[in-house]
Amino acid sequence: MDSILVHGGAELSGQIPIAGAKNACLALMPATLLTDGPLTLTNAPRLSDIRTMTALLQSLGAEVTALQGGRVLALSSHDLTNHLADYDIVRKMRASILVLGPLLARHGHAVVSLPGGCAIGARPVDLHLRALEALGATLELRDGYVHATAPGGLTGGRFAFPFVSVGATENVLMAATLARGTSVIENAAREPEIMDLARCLRRMGARIEGEGTGTLTVEGVDRLEGATHAVVPDRIELGTYMLAPAITGGAVELLGGRRELVAAFADKLEESGIDVAETEAGLKVVRRNGRVKAVDVTTEPFPGFPTDLQAQMMALLCTADGVSVLEEKIFENRFMHAPELMRMGARIDVHGGTARVTGVERLNGAPVMATDLRASVSLILAALAAEGETVVSRVYHLDRGYERVEEKLGACGARIERISA
Ligand code: UD1
Repeated sequence: MDSILVHGGAELSGQIPIAGAKNACLALMPATLLTDGPLTLTNAPRLSDIRTMTALLQSLGAEVTALQGGRVLALSSHDLTNHLADYDIVRKMRASILVLGPLLARHGHAVVSLPGGCAIGARPVDLHLRALEALGATLELRDGYVHATAPGGLTGGRFAFPFVSVGATENVLMAATLARGTSVIENAAREPEIMDLARCLRRMGARIEGEGTGTLTVEGVDRLEGATHAVVPDRIELGTYMLAPAITGGAVELLGGRRELVAAFADKLEESGIDVAETEAGLKVVRRNGRVKAVDVTTEPFPGFPTDLQAQMMALLCTADGVSVLEEKIFENRFMHAPELMRMGARIDVHGGTARVTGVERLNGAPVMATDLRASVSLILAALAAEGETVVSRVYHLDRGYERVEEKLGACGARIERISA
């Protein structure tokens, strides 16, 4: 199992290119199941989660070819051979549930394993299932699998989410594109990944209105065509690397970054004393002299502060001047990075969904362990600012969502290397 070794203390300066969004790509890839035409995704990130989705789609009989070293994905579901998404693949990645809506919409039936537990809380899929039922699907849970049928095809329906779910919105949106009649999805997620999916589906011939608002209206069509679509930049990778110069000092330009993707997060960074400026090529983050100031953070659905940047923001606030309160409103049990940061000298009290961070002057290097994707990168950020050496183990979590992290940070002056086991 690989680990990452960081010698802390170096200021960062330079440029970091931002890849296509993992979470957008994981929703766009299953859209291939909706059409027998070719779907080409450009600006795809090169990540193990994308390879897992590739394997899942291939197991259904789709052709998925990685071109240009994985930057471009060519997908075709001309000849699907199988409607069963097996537990062995689904358990590796929760986003696998996104094949359910498209399979059902195009083929009238699907059998998809339930994803099971997850390190950051229970994370059920009940909303995915209820939303599909509203489109006329019949669902049965048997032996750990969802057996879904819609023999005469799905029909347009209305579903109001009791609370916002990104994945369930994506699933029902894809399903609704081929349903007979009009579907209205209320309290829909407004994340940039949803907007990206809606844009791609529209290119494929879908009739969708309202993406980016809380209400999506979808007029079902008989069939969708192939299309070519560029994946939106990854706002979580962007926010993560914006934190790198914020935590170490220095100035880094994030190429391809756009402020509207991370507005609430950028506002918080500025509140803590970091400069964020729009440039022609992206966003530039500069930390001038002095400590950052403590700020309070509450995670919310988009356009609020993203839960996927909470762990990384906590790493910054560990060395801030004063006490910061972080409230996690999206997931239960998403502070697993806190005890690891405390091994590096951070002062953090966690009570339920609230973490109180009392800033210290300096963190110290220590051996730490990655517990999930975003937690692992928060430890790397903390290590960049810490005195001495940190070894982050279990970095397979990191490889699910960040491509070439050591190269990207190394190019800006970080002393970071991968140790292959
Ligand atoms: C997506 C992102 C993930 C991000 C999350 C919230 C992908 C692949 N992953 O995950 O990185 O952290 O959005 O921004 O895009 N819930 C239910 N029932 C359901 C579905 C969700 O109770 O059927 C709950 C979840 O447990 C969670 C909340 O709803 O507490 C929001 O989850 P959701 O938005 O669905 O997250 P994902 O789509 O899984």
